[in-house]
Amino acid sequence: MKKILIIQGGGRPNGNTDQLVKAFAKGADDAGHEVEIISLIKNEVKGCLGCNACRYGKPCVQKDSFNEIVPKIMAADMLVFASPLYFWTISSRIKAFIERFYCIAEEDKESPLGRYERYPEKDCALLMTAADNFFWTFEQAVSYYKFTLVNYIGFHDRGMLLAGGCGDTNGKPQIDKTEHLSAAFQFGKEIYKE
Ligand SMILES: Cc1cc2nc3c(=O)[nH]c(=O)nc-3n(C[C@H](O)[C@H](O)[C@H](O)COP(=O)(O)O)c2cc1C
Repeated sequence: MKKILIIQGGGRPNGNTDQLVKAFAKGADDAGHEVEIISLIKNEVKGCLGCNACRYGKPCVQKDSFNEIVPKIMAADMLVFASPLYFWTISSRIKAFIERFYCIAEEDKESPLGRYERYPEKDCALLMTAADNFFWTFEQAVSYYKFTLVNYIGFHDRGMLLAGGCGDTNGKPQIDKTEHLSAAFQFGKEIYKE
């Protein structure tokens, strides 16, 4: 059994991303994992100010939900980042959330070239939805995920589900007309299957 924390950066209640997250969570729950979903709409997390107070032993100075989420991040085996595609990348809510990892980094005198600190060891995955479904639709989002979360922060990638063709936000979510929800359920169910 693993602890899985899903960070939901989607906008609409019962929107495409919300439905994708719930399908993934149900699969993971069925497989016996402990799953928690945190909505960044209900729990506001602002971007990092770069004040560096956290580098002098203080909690983050921002007055929002992040400090309460930190113990959940620490306890989790896996962080799942879920977002609609906004202007060809992750939503600003997810970006702001990731910026705040700055305050959970620790000094690392032996960091490899190009890395300046050490982050907690976690698995990670990416869930995304978009209106379009071209071969390049998710390119920037995937590039950010791989570069920042996997290569830089050092999380261990356990996969991505890139759900294109879900319809735009000027109407009802269309994800239930696609195969993405059953794929997400299966993805969640098999996330730790060897
Ligand atoms: C501000 C904004 C920007 C968007 N940018 C893109 C985009 O660049 N490419 C795309 O395919 N869809 C784009 N979309 C559509 C959403 O990604 C898509 O409808 C998504 O599934 C909405 O998720 P939700 O139902 O969870 O809110 C955008 C929607 C909004 C509101």
